[in-house]
Amino acid sequence: MKLKKILGIESTAHTWSVGIIGFDGTVFSLVNDTYIPEKGGLHPALVKEQHLNNFMNIINQALLEASISIHDIDLIAFSKSPGLGPILKIGAQAARMLTQLLDIPIVAVNHCIAHIEIGRLMCKIEDPLALYVSGGNTIVSAYEFGRYQIFGETLDIPIGNLIDSFARDVGLPHPGGPKIEKLAFNSNKYLSLPYVVKGMDLSFSGLYTAAKRLLESKDYNKKYNLNDVAYSLQETAFAMLAEVTERALAHTEKKEVLLTGGVAANKRLQEMIKYISAEHGARFEVVPLKYAGDNGAMIGWTGLLRYEAEGGHTILETQINPKERMDQITIPWRD
Ligand code: ATP
Ligand code: FE2
Repeated sequence: MKLKKILGIESTAHTWSVGIIGFDGTVFSLVNDTYIPEKGGLHPALVKEQHLNNFMNIINQALLEASISIHDIDLIAFSKSPGLGPILKIGAQAARMLTQLLDIPIVAVNHCIAHIEIGRLMCKIEDPLALYVSGGNTIVSAYEFGRYQIFGETLDIPIGNLIDSFARDVGLPHPGGPKIEKLAFNSNKYLSLPYVVKGMDLSFSGLYTAAKRLLESKDYNKKYNLNDVAYSLQETAFAMLAEVTERALAHTEKKEVLLTGGVAANKRLQEMIKYISAEHGARFEVVPLKYAGDNGAMIGWTGLLRYEAEGGHTILETQINPKERMDQITIPWRD
C-alpha cells in the first residue's frame, strides 16, 4: 500500500511542531509552538510544561489546517534524537500513544538527518554537501558509504548558541540571530577576533569571550560600537564555517551545497557559502525559511523515507537517544 499522509512530530528543544506531509512531499500543514524564554537560556522544565500543555492542541490545529481527521493519518514519525531528554520524551510519548490508538506504523527519526532531507526535498537536489547550522548544532556533512558522514563540527558551542548568547549579553531577547544580523549590517569595521579552526573542526568559545571583552573595554562606544562588534563576530564565525565547508567540498567533490538549520536565514552567511560553492562549480541552495528551522514536516518526510525503505519501528525501537550522532545511523533510502 502506498502511504498517503504522515504526521511528523518535532520535539527536541524549544519548538513543538506538527507537520502533515504526503508521500509525494506535499506539505498539507505545519503548525509550530515555540517556547521563548523571558530571559536567559532554555530551561528544559519550563519548555516541557509548555509542550505538555499544548501538544494535542497543535496536533489538532495541524489536522484542521490540512482539513483531515486523525483517522486519515497512515504513519506517525517523531524526533527521537538528538536533543533535551525531557523534551524528546514528550514527542516519543505522544507518538507512541497515537500509533497504538490508531493502529498505524511509527518511525523514529534523527533530527539532524531530517534537516538535510527536507533540504533535498524542498530544493530538489540529490546529493549535497550540507552545512547545518542552528542553535544546537554546527555540522558539515555529506552522504558517503551508506551514512551521513560528519566532515567537520564544533568542538564546543554551536554557532547559533554563540550568536544568541552574545545577543543576550547585550540585552537582545531570544532569538538573537536576526537582531545581530541587523546590527552587523550597519558596519564594515572589522575588529580582530580569535579565528579557531582545528583540522576540520571549529571552536567558538574563545571568539565569544573575546567579543564580550570588546564590550567591556574602555574603547567601547568611543573607538567602536555595538554594530562593529556584531559585524566582526559574524565575519569571523562565518569565515570559519566557510573555510571548513570549502575544504569538505574540495574533498568530497560534491556538486551541490545545502545550507540548512535556523542560522541558514542569515544573508551574510548565505553570501559566503554561495561564493565558495561557485568557486568549486557547485550549485548552492538554502532551505526555504519555513523549513530551515525546527519543523514537523522534516520529521514526517524523513520518517516516510525510512518507512518506504525498511518499514516502521517496533515500540521498543522508539526509545529516545538524546546524544545520538547522525553518522551512527545507516541510511537505507539513498543509493
Ligand atoms: P537544532 O535543534 O537543530 O539545533 P534549534 O533548536 O537551534 O535547532 P533552529 O530553529 O534550527 O532551532 O535554529 C534557531 C537558531 O537560528 C537560533 O540560534 C537563532 O538565533 C538562529 N537564527 C535565526 N535567524 C537567524 C539569522 N538571521 N542570523 C543568524 N542566526 C539566525
Ligand atoms: Fe533543528
